[in-house]
Amino acid sequence: MSPRISPEVQVRRALPEDAAVCGPICYNAFNTLNQSHGFPCDFPSPEVTTGVLSMMFSHPGFYGVVAEIDGQVAGSNCLDERSTINGIGPITIDPERQNRGVGRRLMQAVMERAQERGAPGVRLVQAAFHTRSLSLYAGLGFEIREPLACMQGRTTERAVPGCTVRAAQTADLEECNALARRVHGFDRGRELSDAIHMGSALVVERHGRITGYATALAFFGHATAETNTDLQALIASVDSFGGPGVLVPSRNGALLRWCLANGLRVVQLMTLMSVGLYNEPAGAWLPSISF
Ligand SMILES: CC(C)(COP(=O)(O)OP(=O)(O)OC[C@H]1O[C@@H](n2cnc3c(N)ncnc32)[C@H](O)[C@@H]1OP(=O)(O)O)[C@@H](O)C(=O)NCCC(=O)NCCS
Repeated sequence: MSPRISPEVQVRRALPEDAAVCGPICYNAFNTLNQSHGFPCDFPSPEVTTGVLSMMFSHPGFYGVVAEIDGQVAGSNCLDERSTINGIGPITIDPERQNRGVGRRLMQAVMERAQERGAPGVRLVQAAFHTRSLSLYAGLGFEIREPLACMQGRTTERAVPGCTVRAAQTADLEECNALARRVHGFDRGRELSDAIHMGSALVVERHGRITGYATALAFFGHATAETNTDLQALIASVDSFGGPGVLVPSRNGALLRWCLANGLRVVQLMTLMSVGLYNEPAGAWLPSISF
């Protein structure tokens, strides 16, 4: 571990144009970390991380922050404010400036923001191999809620009998939101609405009613369903998952075993953490890399 220095860190709101500097920092931070542990990078290129941060820094549903040391950007963080429960990430610090308290400042900035705006709970997902991020988040009060297996591949079963999967439409929003409220106690309607407009959202129907939805079968997407069967139908409906993979709650042994029996491979293990309100979901679900 490098010596801990306390540099003069200024934290400010991120501007859309900060993505040009923060995007490459984000890619380098993940690439350096994952390579040192023998894992593939979570993002394919600096252009992709720049695109993701550019979207977040300009979207009214996100609160982005950057940290500067001597006027130079050292890292960034984001708070997804599109639902009652907020999600944090991606937080990344320039590898040359890590382990000196900058990440803590950027975490505190978004946690204070969530508190000011009355969010009852904040969640995030961290890479289980990353000792530093686990320590940082636990030290800030985050509890471990769920172990996750990031899984990739194409299921051998290509459909689930009795389930129909189709693209989600705006008219499906209220039924999906009601399902989310039954399973999680809150909905993620703004996020789902964004995903419907982007064309990535899916719903599964059984007996003519919606029994599950996914904003995307991807690292950045979440899914909520009544049962594992509905979730399996969603998972089986796509040829691959966006990004490194989907995040399967590994305490859901039946779903995990179905994924394994269908040929999906575990890419890495991750951990869902939360501070504030958390309730055990009453249904089947996949979190996104945000929460
Ligand atoms: C994770 C990351 C954002 C943290 O930022 P940082 O500036 O390096 O972290 P900080 O110095 O602010 O805080 C690290 C904390 O972990 C502690 N820590 C580090 N390694 C530790 C270990 N092995 N055991 C116990 N504590 C440890 C430090 O003492 C410090 O604790 P403190 O805040 O109570 O003093 C940064 O390292 C990073 O960009 N990593 C790569 C990308 C990434 O993994 N992002 C997170 C995705 S979930």
